[in-house]
Amino acid sequence: MSTAVNDRLQDSVLVNEWHPVYKASELKDEPVGVIVMGERVALFRSKNGVNAFRDLCIHRGAMLSKGYIKNDTLVCPYHGWQYDDKGNCVCIPAQGKDKKIPVRAKAEGYHCIEKYGIVWVCLGEPKSDLPDIPEFEDPSYRPLVCGPYEVKAAGTRVVENFTDFAHLMYVHGGLLGHPDYAELPDFQIFKEEDRIYTDDVPIFQPVAHSGSDAKEGTTYVYVKEVFRPLVGKLSKRDADTGQTLYILLTVLPINDKECTVYMAVARNYGFDVPDEQFIQFQDTVFEQDAWIIETQKPELLPLDLQAELNHKVDILSVAYRRWLKELGVTIGTT
Ligand code: FES
Ligand SMILES: [Fe+2]
Repeated sequence: MSTAVNDRLQDSVLVNEWHPVYKASELKDEPVGVIVMGERVALFRSKNGVNAFRDLCIHRGAMLSKGYIKNDTLVCPYHGWQYDDKGNCVCIPAQGKDKKIPVRAKAEGYHCIEKYGIVWVCLGEPKSDLPDIPEFEDPSYRPLVCGPYEVKAAGTRVVENFTDFAHLMYVHGGLLGHPDYAELPDFQIFKEEDRIYTDDVPIFQPVAHSGSDAKEGTTYVYVKEVFRPLVGKLSKRDADTGQTLYILLTVLPINDKECTVYMAVARNYGFDVPDEQFIQFQDTVFEQDAWIIETQKPELLPLDLQAELNHKVDILSVAYRRWLKELGVTIGTT
């Protein structure tokens, strides 16, 4: 197929990763368009589930995401060609019903799945499955999705910020930490193939979570992990009560310097507290993060460890940078 336009950014690693592209509950009976690594992608829901096509009709290059769904097919808005969910064109309205549809009349499909309340797309061949995180299946946890948050910064900067502990007392001062309790305990990191994680890191928080049994300031125990180039996970546990919050943070690289962030969150407490309250809390926290991340220079995460001053408390972020280098991630790095 000859292509008139292809703005896809080259990254031999990220092309084979699953990227979060939409909140599953919001993909209904209309197609939508998103951008993944510079490439326009049309998403739609059919009887079989979620689907992703290159957002370009082979006939005259119109955007399929601007079309509509009819009889379980995606209809191009320009001349009404209809594509089934395998990408086969099944109707060309301008030709007689008895005429054959040209073999090349196809929409290019991408791998697309729904998991953790998020629609995910892989433009190439998925390097690995999205992991099964037991807490998101466990009925004693309540899952919800936060975001999308649009950030004018590299996705790598967002993930690195997620690995960072020492900002909690400053960027989220009064919420997730307090400058009077800024000293971090010694902690360790562990590296396995495709996984970097910490041991327990206790952090004092001046106000308890909403829905928590604790009323006053509480020490929460964090464990942070990065397991894909743009996906991290943390757990935050009240050691006294066992109340735990899991956050899966995942970033869609729109291009080198813009990204969209989705968070799947699960908690085993506060079921009587409206989800909106948790979402608002995450919105506030993320807004505080974005406020810093969007100002960082260089915009692209430097993988040369001499380029910035790494401190002992940055061991997780340093390991993340090393891993990105090892893998050869190019979007959002320098
Ligand atoms: S451009 Fe899509 S049907 Fe003509
Ligand atoms: Fe933060």
